[in-house]
Amino acid sequence: MIRKLICCFLLIALFTNSFAQSVAPAQQKKMDAFITNLMSKMTLDEKIGQLNLEAVGFDVTGPIVSKNVNENIQKGNVGGVFNTYTPDAVRKLQEIAVNHSRLKIPLIFGYDVIHGHKTIFPVPLGLASSWDLDMIQKSAQIAASEASADGLNWVFSPMVDIARDPRWGRIVEGNGEDTWLGSQIAARMVKGYQGDNTYDINHVMACVKHFALYGAAESGRDYNTVDMSERRMYQDYLPPYKAAIDAGAGSIMSSFNEINGVPATANKWLMTDLLRKQWGFKGFVATDYTAIMELIPHGMGKDGYAVGKKAIDAGIDMDMVSDIFLDNLKKLVNDGKVPVSEIDIACRRILEAKYKMGLFTDPYRYCNVQRAATTIMKQDYIDAARDAAEKSIVLLKNSNSVLPLKQGGSIALVGPLADDHRDMIGPWSGAGDWHKSVSVLDGIKQLAGSNVQINYAKGANITDSEWLLKRLGKDELSFDKRSPQEMIDEAVAAAKKSDVIVAVVGEAATMSGEAASRSDIGIFPNQEDLLKALKATGKPLVIVLMNGRPLTLNWENDNADAMLETWFGGTEAGSAIADVLFGAYNPSAKITATFPQNVGQIPLYYAHKNTGRPYAGDFVERYKSRYLDVSNDPLYPFGFGLSYTTFTYSPIKLNTTSIKPGQPLQVSVTVSNTGKYDGTEIVQLYTRQLYGSVTRPVEELKNFKKVFLKAGESQAVNFTITSDDLKFYNIDMKYTYEPGDFKVFVGTNSRDVNSADFKLTN
Ligand code: NOJ
Repeated sequence: MIRKLICCFLLIALFTNSFAQSVAPAQQKKMDAFITNLMSKMTLDEKIGQLNLEAVGFDVTGPIVSKNVNENIQKGNVGGVFNTYTPDAVRKLQEIAVNHSRLKIPLIFGYDVIHGHKTIFPVPLGLASSWDLDMIQKSAQIAASEASADGLNWVFSPMVDIARDPRWGRIVEGNGEDTWLGSQIAARMVKGYQGDNTYDINHVMACVKHFALYGAAESGRDYNTVDMSERRMYQDYLPPYKAAIDAGAGSIMSSFNEINGVPATANKWLMTDLLRKQWGFKGFVATDYTAIMELIPHGMGKDGYAVGKKAIDAGIDMDMVSDIFLDNLKKLVNDGKVPVSEIDIACRRILEAKYKMGLFTDPYRYCNVQRAATTIMKQDYIDAARDAAEKSIVLLKNSNSVLPLKQGGSIALVGPLADDHRDMIGPWSGAGDWHKSVSVLDGIKQLAGSNVQINYAKGANITDSEWLLKRLGKDELSFDKRSPQEMIDEAVAAAKKSDVIVAVVGEAATMSGEAASRSDIGIFPNQEDLLKALKATGKPLVIVLMNGRPLTLNWENDNADAMLETWFGGTEAGSAIADVLFGAYNPSAKITATFPQNVGQIPLYYAHKNTGRPYAGDFVERYKSRYLDVSNDPLYPFGFGLSYTTFTYSPIKLNTTSIKPGQPLQVSVTVSNTGKYDGTEIVQLYTRQLYGSVTRPVEELKNFKKVFLKAGESQAVNFTITSDDLKFYNIDMKYTYEPGDFKVFVGTNSRDVNSADFKLTN
């Protein structure tokens, strides 16, 4: 019996092609032998074909689209395809590769699965605001389950670029400004997508992007130049990519920008010295869309021949859409400019990925129509999306406890996003079906039914700017042709006959994401006109924001009675917003990117340096690091978010005020729920090194705990810090700690903290 079971287990292991990222020697040997044998049969053309990634199908996400794909697959000129999904569509292309190409090498199928595949979760910046690592991992797991059921085996996610400039539209796709939190999330996303890295049928291969520093585009303008010190790069920007790789990510995507004067896609230091030699990355590197071709306008070479050489020499394995490898590598090899060994290495890495994903055993592994039908958008997944959306909503203001609303009386539900479906799922929700999303109007109706009378009016379009609408493609926005005044009048009439106003305003989904930078990040003037008219009615004003970036919200903060930041909450956005509005869920999220008072303050982030002339918050002394016209404070600091209840923090208790390397410092506070509602608090711990061989930030997040407290309940929250947590890149660029004086801070956000002093001695 036992023997039978063992046999059975071995057979299952064989057929499911269980294969860890760090493969066992026997499996590695088997894979190596398989690939060596296969490669011995491959012509140079066929090897180069494996390095080619073509865009086929539904979405156009760049300036050019791949042509003659079927023919190219048949010729063995294609290694992978993206933008095609559904079991049938994938099967059709896979059949060409498997039945009609000479060596029958299967294709891999990638896609931009960023915050869910079909069941759409909140945008990543929203998910990050939950600080709920388990939930974030689960969202990636669900995305992987749906994507893999829908023919895909490779996702272009997680996006882990640190972003400290909210003008940059792609801040929405990442986890915000903080390196430590961003690294935790990066690792969890990879785990969610890849599971235990054995590539079982419910998981997919992750592609970490955009390597590297893409979030630091000058002036927040997408695709713009990046220039930063080596220290800042190592200290603040690189760790999330490294965390994702350490978690086992199978692939990584080169970014569009330059690093120290050399675009990532041609940057040998980045792709080989750092990524391979220092970090030990074993997977493959794909470029971003046409990034090799873009090396020409970058000024790295005058034609495909020149830039193709730079990319392959740098360590790029796969060319997304440029066709530059396809068109130039053979000649480069024949001319003796590129050693064939470079092609072999890249080809092997891609074949290894296919092998690990089990595609040589069963190329149609991910093409099961039945599985797709029972997996995609199943109720559990929708419930998880609602849970995630609730946990991502940030309460920015709540004067006089206007929220939660009572389930009774009447509500004026107004604003361009109040009954919107299209925008709910946010940018980069490629396969998401916005028709299936729940609007705020739907959500309130579902929750409150006939207990509440809803007086709905659109009130305003997202924007009236013809110029902006043209740039966005008007069709994307449901544009109401009535005059702005007519719409405002209707909304004001609705407000006058209601007890409270809920105004749902903000950005359209297309206003953040790729190629969607803004130089002004306020609410559009026509929406502000609406808000001002509503305010003038004297009725309590609740603003529900939807947007993909921190906004400047001074007027709103001064005039709204309550304000919720709901981001783009995904398929279940409207249900979650209703849950929060009526108190079925007590908001707990905290922003992970600073909200500035105005764009002139950008970049504004909590972990800044003190400078030699720190500004203490008054205008008495002139020669301080400050502005004349605005304080240095953000409107909302990193880590900020309120609850319907209130939490108080005791002073910090330390077990000692002096630790040696390796010894623990126990940091405890008692957090009490002093309000009327049960609630969850995200207790944050920061440190500061006061003096060092290089200057250090005024605060750095090191840990947090999410605690649930019943009304009236108190709980001790304990943290441990060791010298490992105090490591940084010192004057010699060594990652180490330095003995000296430190502060530890614990609090409800990066600004409102208690502090205590300690020393690290030798
Ligand atoms: C360009 C984007 O920068 C990247 O994030 C995306 O994965 C690719 N296009 C593919 O769509």
